[in-house]
Amino acid sequence: MLVARRFHLAIRIGTLIASSAMVSAAELPLMPFPSKAIVSEGRLRVDSSFRVGLNGYSDLRLMAAVDRFVARVSRQTGIPMLPGKAATLEVECKERGSLVPALGEDESYHLEIRPDQASLEARTVTGAIRGLETFAQLIRPGPDGFQAPTVTIEDRPRFPWRGLMLDAVRHWMPVSVIERNLDAMAAVKLNVFHWHLSDDQGFRVESRRYPRLTQMGSDGNFYTQADVRQVVAYAQDRGIRVIPEFDMPGHTTAWFVGYPELASAPGPYAIERKWGVFAPSLDLSREATYSFLDGLIGEMAALFPDPYFHVGGDEVDGAAWRQSRSIQAFARDHQITTSRDLQAYFNHRLQKLLQKHGKIMIGWDEVLGPGLARETVIQSWRGQASLAEAAVRGHGAVLSFGYYLDQLWPASRHYAIDPLDGAAGDLTPEQTKNILGGEACMWSEYVNAETVDSRIWPRLAAIAERLWSPRDVTDAGSMYERLENVSRTLEWTGVEHQSALEPMLDRLASPRSSHALRVLAGVSEALGIEGRRNLAENASLVPLNRFVDAVRPESERVRTLELAVKSLTTSSAAIPELRATLTEWAANEAELRPLGEANLLVAEVVPLATHLAVAGRIGLRALELIETKQPAPGGWVEEQSRELDRLEQPTAQVRLAAVRPVRLLVATVGPLPTARLRLQALDSASVRRGIEHPCNTPATVLNWTIETNRSTMRLNSKLWVVRLAARMLRSHE
Ligand code: ACM
Repeated sequence: MLVARRFHLAIRIGTLIASSAMVSAAELPLMPFPSKAIVSEGRLRVDSSFRVGLNGYSDLRLMAAVDRFVARVSRQTGIPMLPGKAATLEVECKERGSLVPALGEDESYHLEIRPDQASLEARTVTGAIRGLETFAQLIRPGPDGFQAPTVTIEDRPRFPWRGLMLDAVRHWMPVSVIERNLDAMAAVKLNVFHWHLSDDQGFRVESRRYPRLTQMGSDGNFYTQADVRQVVAYAQDRGIRVIPEFDMPGHTTAWFVGYPELASAPGPYAIERKWGVFAPSLDLSREATYSFLDGLIGEMAALFPDPYFHVGGDEVDGAAWRQSRSIQAFARDHQITTSRDLQAYFNHRLQKLLQKHGKIMIGWDEVLGPGLARETVIQSWRGQASLAEAAVRGHGAVLSFGYYLDQLWPASRHYAIDPLDGAAGDLTPEQTKNILGGEACMWSEYVNAETVDSRIWPRLAAIAERLWSPRDVTDAGSMYERLENVSRTLEWTGVEHQSALEPMLDRLASPRSSHALRVLAGVSEALGIEGRRNLAENASLVPLNRFVDAVRPESERVRTLELAVKSLTTSSAAIPELRATLTEWAANEAELRPLGEANLLVAEVVPLATHLAVAGRIGLRALELIETKQPAPGGWVEEQSRELDRLEQPTAQVRLAAVRPVRLLVATVGPLPTARLRLQALDSASVRRGIEHPCNTPATVLNWTIETNRSTMRLNSKLWVVRLAARMLRSHE
């Protein structure tokens, strides 16, 4: 394997790298992967004399970006940086570009790192900011100190709209949380922060015109106008647009606590404490509603410089309108017969108000109704079809379906979703231009300020790559390698997705050691919103202090163990590590059990620890069979597979990810299931190498070679290899 890797590297030196699959994370640990890169042999030293020189256009925003960059590199390397004489990195910017980050602005840059010096050229300040982030990701420790690889990079985004929506309503997100996430967003070149600011559970921005919105509708958790200005400026410095969302006409219960006259039914109203879709909706039949909105939008429009203003529009169930006599009379007068058409009427009025205040409307895909102004942007969350439909009708369109971080999918699942897939694949080139990009969504029913970073990062970096990098950058193996890298550098930008875990586990175990919980947490995965909806948890005042809240959505440890098991095809080097891990799992239950006896919050995960111990023992037995090349006893594989199915059932809203590498080990022992042949192509050389290896049976090898070869070629073009392998297998047995 190693030899092959070196060979590929050798032929690649000095050649154009146009795909992440062609390069290892060790060579170019970048995320998002650039449009074009040429790696050459050599290194640029990064030491305490590191200095950035500014040529061409320069302003306070660029200088601040450079200062942040140097401070970040200093944190990342641990090297105090005093400016040296000569610049190590020359930055040449042609012009200011848009002062307030704008849709479609030039974000391209050209970065050249040579052994003696580096240069970064960009047309705009935003382009330079993107290039600095690339440079920061390239810095790694080497044999003589920190260094960056010599490389030439040409880079520009694929889509102009690359965002994160954060729900600051269902759980309160202080300014510090927003700012550290803006830093991390900038690190992966995202450029839209969509701030979900009002919903049934709260109204989160100070309105001086309508103070009861927050006085009565926020529990005291709201952003002052000074906070908003601070966040907008912070984002602007990092080339990130801020789009506020005031969700209406549904999701408005919190508005009605202070202003019940806006509602379709008399009230009184209280802040909603549960999760879900609720009936209260704005009374769209009264002129007073529009006067109020005129005032509110005017006030908010002045706070948020971006021309786009999100009006929500999702999940209006129409019940409040159907039950109101005056609204039904209004509908008859206007010859409107459905709730959908009532909402279209409302949107039309809303759009005029936005226009008056210089704003362009964006809404969730429910706003895609008759008569919608062409300039309105549609954010597609219910499926990819609405994205294409919006584009066909001439609207700009942003994809969020498939990018819901609260579902806690593995990064690879989000990564596989492309805005131009599905119905969008049939668009004309002209219509395709309307697809502006995508936005990940972090709804906060089951996250709070303590846990939100670990639900956003590092998985958002994979979505950021989907939206920035060329379309053919799709190799999940390469993505995960680079994701692990970027996940570490993100901690230096300030997000606490990794560092928050240990204090949470310590709190759970207190006053005892959290070691056993850490072992369990490292190989467990939290279920997403779909796995957590139950009566007991369906409310905002439920504490998020359980094991499931500490555990990450995707286990990096398990992924590396899966790779270790797969490596058994060609080498037995991973056996000691696998044995040590499985032994630790088998023993961990005994350490954790006493913790659970004394502690309610740990008690619920004792069964999970029991499952881990069983999985550990199954894995140890499989490893023994593999090592001694013994066949499994009759029915053993099937029996263990059934047992692993049982162990994989969620416990305490957590999935035991540890089952996955054990399943692979058991399959390695077992006979070759024909279904596996379908999975992957294989190459005869690695089959031969594997067969020759002392720890493998031929069946194991064929199994694993098929499973591990990640070629994307279609199977039927590789059938000959399968046949060859089968022949080799027969001759060997
Ligand atoms: C949404 O998820 N209701 C936009």
